[in-house]
Amino acid sequence: MTSTRRHRWLRWPADPATPRFAFGADYNPEQWPRETWPEDIRLMREAGVNIVSLAIFSWARIQPAPGTWDFAWLDEVMDLLHEGGIAVDLATATASPPPWLTTLHPEILPVTRTGETVFPGARQHWRPTSPVFREHALRLAGALAERYAGHPALTAWHVNNELGCHNVYDYSDDAARAFREWLRDRYGTLDALNHAWGTAFWSQRYSGWDQIQPPRLAASHPNPTQQLDFKRFSSDALKDHLRAERDLLAGITPDVPVTTNFMVMGETKGMDYADWAAEVDFVSNDHYVVPGPQALDELSFSAGLTRGIAGGDPWFLMEHSTSAVNWQPVNRAKAPGELARDSLLHVAHGADAVCFFQWRQSAAGAEKYHSAMVPHAGPDSDVFRAVVALGRTLRDDLAPVAGTPNEQAPAAILFDWESWWASEQDSHPSSRLRYRQEALDWYSAFLALGVRADVVPLGTALDGYGLVVAPVLHVVPDAVAKELAAYVEGGGHLVTTYFSGVVDENDHVRLGGYPGPLRELLGLRIEEFAPLLDGERVELDDGATGTLWTDRITVTDPAVEVLASYAGGTFAGRPAATRLPAPGGGSAAYVSTRLGPAGLAPLLGRLLTAAGVAGELPEEARGRVELTVRGAYWFLVNRTDEPVELPGVTGEVLTGALPVPPRGVTVLRR
Ligand code: GAL
Repeated sequence: MTSTRRHRWLRWPADPATPRFAFGADYNPEQWPRETWPEDIRLMREAGVNIVSLAIFSWARIQPAPGTWDFAWLDEVMDLLHEGGIAVDLATATASPPPWLTTLHPEILPVTRTGETVFPGARQHWRPTSPVFREHALRLAGALAERYAGHPALTAWHVNNELGCHNVYDYSDDAARAFREWLRDRYGTLDALNHAWGTAFWSQRYSGWDQIQPPRLAASHPNPTQQLDFKRFSSDALKDHLRAERDLLAGITPDVPVTTNFMVMGETKGMDYADWAAEVDFVSNDHYVVPGPQALDELSFSAGLTRGIAGGDPWFLMEHSTSAVNWQPVNRAKAPGELARDSLLHVAHGADAVCFFQWRQSAAGAEKYHSAMVPHAGPDSDVFRAVVALGRTLRDDLAPVAGTPNEQAPAAILFDWESWWASEQDSHPSSRLRYRQEALDWYSAFLALGVRADVVPLGTALDGYGLVVAPVLHVVPDAVAKELAAYVEGGGHLVTTYFSGVVDENDHVRLGGYPGPLRELLGLRIEEFAPLLDGERVELDDGATGTLWTDRITVTDPAVEVLASYAGGTFAGRPAATRLPAPGGGSAAYVSTRLGPAGLAPLLGRLLTAAGVAGELPEEARGRVELTVRGAYWFLVNRTDEPVELPGVTGEVLTGALPVPPRGVTVLRR
């Protein structure tokens, strides 16, 4: 659930009133000789860099041994940056514990589900619930905060780094202890826990709290509610670490905003960022493009979701890449134009900061083949020239856009971490279901139709949206069912899909036919799920093809319109997609199979027409150009390798051109 937010933006050292984009990178000067630093600052100025994230992995350098501190180098870097007019988002440096700490305290090392120790040698080898780690991390964060409290370059705090990137699930004894405490808080009594976990099944009834374990390697499927609670707990445990560092910093430097970089991207699902967003002063995100047919859609979807969890406030793109990364099976270099286009697509979705990992490409270490702003080739390179050009665009062309909120889109996709977690657990009708992929497919369909859609976490007010898609909304507690019903009663058009409304917050099936609490709203009842085997397909009578899933649907309300029926298979002649108009002018639609982006687009088109929601771009540009709106500014992102004309679209061009150049971004003031 989203919580109340407390967002405030960067504290710029000088001239806080002038709108500007933050532009910069992770800066790791400790990887380079001192002589490089002035050259770095000179090049940063040339590129228009005005902020860097510093000291993210510097623990071993700052505290080389217990009780020994070395701030001299960092003092010098902070001063150099300040003299260069570059602000610092200073990390608390707690992401990678140094060798002396893990040697002294091996009990901080995480343990896998199968009982193996995660040894040092990479990074983030710490248990989120280790009191020993917490103590050392807070000592370090406190020392940094005391040291740099009054430093004029300090503009924000960067807690740890990508909390949970490698250590979200820890099954150690510390985790077991903390998990039990968390469960006591949640349930109060063992009876309540036994009920919630359904422990009457397989003789799992607990008679003492100390009997409860994290879902470690078991003989068969571990208890599903235990698994779901462990996911909730693990997200909370990291959130707790975030809060501990944040509270310490806020006590020492109350005026300096605190953030941590989220990873709203791809299949990173362990952290419920909708729930974390209220814990930071501003939301930051890291995003990396994964090549594939939906790569650009996914970038846009992630940026939209980041805006959604930020509640529409400006957010900070803390990391993305100028070109290739190092951690995919094959690391694709970006084509000319993509560096700027990817950056500006984030800006189109409300980012007021564009930063990269990292400033200078490492010569050594695991990330030496990861691109950077200054590549191995040096500044005489296309990448650096593209960086300089982007800095100029942000500073000279787009500055007035900074701080402008996005306009609410006519439609929305509802995103829910609980449903993501629960719908993909084991021992389900199909292990092939991918929650985020289904949501992304709907988003791709919106893009193909040229209709703007926000991506918002469950709990966001839905009024104002003409149509809302809640794909695979698997967990539907009573309160959520009421919220959805109220939206439809108020004239909203709701669309949901297979495997929605199936369980309550305890992962207990809602009885009497699926989708329990949504049956009446949808006017149908499902007796049985019938997932499809790998490679199996089912034809629909509107020409679409379904995969993954089918449902045996019985229509219970005569007013239901059947939008498409199964044309073959066991359910031939039965409804596959339905829509029930509601008295207040709204409706509730259901799609029982996976249609993929191409199959969803025509169906979504019909649903949008029925809801009275239309695209804003000229017909011929739909699908080829993505439109987002920030106040008076239209962002037009060319998704193709060809120029795209936009007949009838006019305005003052801030950057780009009309027609929109291949892979280009044009911003108009309207
Ligand atoms: C992030 C991380 C950075 C760097 C980057 C590489 O996960 O925060 O430190 O590793 O990925 O893509």
